[in-house]
Amino acid sequence: MQAQISLEVQIAGLSLRNPIILASGILGHSTEVFERIYNAGVSAVIGKSVSLQPREAYKPPTVVQVNSGYLNAIGLGNPGADAFAQELKKVSARKIPVIASMFGSDPNDFERMTKLFDSAGAVAFELNLSCPHVKGVGTEVGHDPHLVAAIVKAVRKSTSKPVFAKVSPGMETMLQTVKAAEEAGASGITATNTIRAMAIDVESRVPYLSNRFGGLSGDALHPIAVRCVYEIAEQTKIPIIGCGGIDSWEDAVEFILAGASAVEIGTVLAYRPPTVIEEILSGIRGYMTRKGYKRVSDFVGLAHSR
Ligand SMILES: Cc1cc2nc3c(=O)[nH]c(=O)nc-3n(C[C@H](O)[C@H](O)[C@H](O)COP(=O)(O)O)c2cc1C
Repeated sequence: MQAQISLEVQIAGLSLRNPIILASGILGHSTEVFERIYNAGVSAVIGKSVSLQPREAYKPPTVVQVNSGYLNAIGLGNPGADAFAQELKKVSARKIPVIASMFGSDPNDFERMTKLFDSAGAVAFELNLSCPHVKGVGTEVGHDPHLVAAIVKAVRKSTSKPVFAKVSPGMETMLQTVKAAEEAGASGITATNTIRAMAIDVESRVPYLSNRFGGLSGDALHPIAVRCVYEIAEQTKIPIIGCGGIDSWEDAVEFILAGASAVEIGTVLAYRPPTVIEEILSGIRGYMTRKGYKRVSDFVGLAHSR
């Protein structure tokens, strides 16, 4: 009898029921929303990035639709680590795997958050080293390989769970950041975050977003993110999670062929109902049947062999 097709993936020691994870920031971090999206099919959820202390979001408008994508500058507003830990305990109690996303500029802050979220039930960590529109954190941290190494080391020594460093295509130093994160003990890389961008209302003659600059996500980001995953796969041995503009099974498979072991979806959930998750999973299953693959790992990185 032929072995059954399995969508289960192992990534950096994390067992997931399928390769699709909810990306950070798209749906906040309420237990109810996480439960709804988990029941719709994702294998794990990532919360909106949190900092040790609460932080106010930018004033509206914080999101605008542009051709082939969305621009957002929420400003990493969040209720702080203690409030997130409470929500994390509730979600974890419902057996939903949560990856905690954290940002900051001080390795000590990362260390404290890691310990807190580890004991609150996070199954893994994602370090937001790549938000392109907030001063002093995100890409400004990610651009500095020494600081990246210090942060990854601080997190690494505070947990035995997987730690993913999330990078952005807008970082000229992206590959150096990946190397610094890998050498400092990161378990994997998430590629990518949004890319810094802007849109201007021609009638009022001012930028649409209150912050002027934002991060571009969705369709327009997809080929850029695929290029990043491909380049990262050529230089790193640790696993990669692909993210950027997935709204079909082909987009997800493309990331896997470029070298990703799993993928994250975000913006698509702003314009498609959560049934899109099952649609993508079923497309991946159909592709595997046609190609004769039993496991997702059978086709990770195959685009590199040509
Ligand atoms: C409204 C919005 C908020 C986001 N907030 C975060 C965040 O807090 N932390 C983070 O690492 N990425 C954040 N992102 C980036 C996404 O996690 C993802 O990396 C990016 O949107 C690309 O994927 P997509 O095109 O599928 O949305 C946000 C994206 C959007 C659209």
